[in-house]
This record gives sequence, C-alpha cells and structure tokens, in this order.
Amino acid sequence: MKLDWRLLIPYELLEPNWRLWSFVGILTLGFWALLAFPMAEFAGYIDPFYSPTILIVPLPGAFRLTCYAYRKDYHRHIFNHPLGCANADRGESASRHYTGERSAVFQLENFHRYFMYAGIAILPFFYYDFYHSLISSGTFELRLGSLLLLANAITLTGWTVSCHAFRHVIGGNVDCYSCVAAGGPRKDFYDRQSWLNKHHEALAWISLLTIILVDLYLRGLAAGLPIDKTLLRF
Ligand code: FES
Repeated sequence: MKLDWRLLIPYELLEPNWRLWSFVGILTLGFWALLAFPMAEFAGYIDPFYSPTILIVPLPGAFRLTCYAYRKDYHRHIFNHPLGCANADRGESASRHYTGERSAVFQLENFHRYFMYAGIAILPFFYYDFYHSLISSGTFELRLGSLLLLANAITLTGWTVSCHAFRHVIGGNVDCYSCVAAGGPRKDFYDRQSWLNKHHEALAWISLLTIILVDLYLRGLAAGLPIDKTLLRF
C-alpha cells in the first residue's frame, strides 16, 4: 500500500486559518532557531544546526526554503496560491492574478539555482562532523550518535544531488541532449541523477527530519539521557 503522508496532516483545518497557522509556524521555527544556536558540540558530536555551516546559515537556509518540494507545499497549502492547475476547486486562487514566474516572490525563489552551490559546498562539513565524532575521544569510537550524524550527511547529500537545479547543471544547456551525450559518462550520471530526482520530495522531508532528529538526540544527551551507545572501540 502506498502511504500518502499528506493525509497525516489536517489540511482541512489548516487551510481556512492559514494566516494563523503561518504565524504559529514562523513562531515555532523562530523558537527552534533560538534553541539551535547555543547548542554547538556535546560529547564529540557537532550539532548539524551549529556545524561550521552556521557561519553561512542564511545560504543553506535559503536553499531549503526555495526548494521546489517545499515551494509546492507552501504555495498550495499555506499561501493557497497558485493551486495545482488540475485542482477543480481552485477557490481563492482562481480569482487571484497569476503572472507565471514573473512576480517578485517567484523571481526570488528562482535564485534557488545559485543557492544550490552553497548547499553543495557545505556537504563536506557534515561528513567531517561524522569523522570528528569517531576520533574526538582520542581513540577510534563508533557510537550510535556517529551513525546518526552519518545518516544526516547521507540524507542531506541525497536531497542536494537530487535537486532539480542540479539536474539542469548535469543534463541541461544542450539543444539535443541525446545527440551530444548518448552513451557517454555524462548521460550515465544524468540517468542516475534522474532516478534520485524522482524521490526528491521524499528526500527533502527525510533530510529535514534527520537534522531535527540529530539535534534532539544531542539535546537529550546534553540533558543527561542515557541514550548513547558505543558500538565499536579500538
Ligand atoms: Fe529541492 Fe533544489 S529543488 S533542493
């Protein structure tokens, strides 16, 4: 059975009150951000919210905020505009003027293709965080938290390289793609990325949840919960 995760969210409740819910959402995210900032490193684990990327956090933040997967959701379910063209009842959205991608918001969102480079540039930091957690005690130690950091790095990589803008970098900018790249390494890379790209929306949410999970795990550890386990040491 295919799980439709959207049914888990009460959109019927959210949509009529979208201003209220947007306000609650912004407050919650702001509160989370305030919580996230002081948490830097605990027991050799660097918090993904804090990782050196904190220095350039607006760029990865903008990369995530302008991701097509989230854009679809906040335009359809929070802004209520534009709704999907196939939606028979377009309600409020039908009476609002839609100017394609020329409005200021869309133009801003189109900077996503540039924010992507920041997203790619920060990926090594997350692998470094994993490595750092292995050796921080002065000896090699694989702990449960290290595996979570690795999972975080992998899901972030999956989300980033499955990006639609990345797809364009690999496969775009040629008039006849199959003529130029048929059978070549670029075509192979493109085909592999195409497979990942089909799962981009799921990866967007999984990678976000993984970051939050790691952050909560570290907060739990810092609070004294006995949740960390050493799996290997030598
Ligand atoms: Fe989602 Fe680029 S479209 S990260």
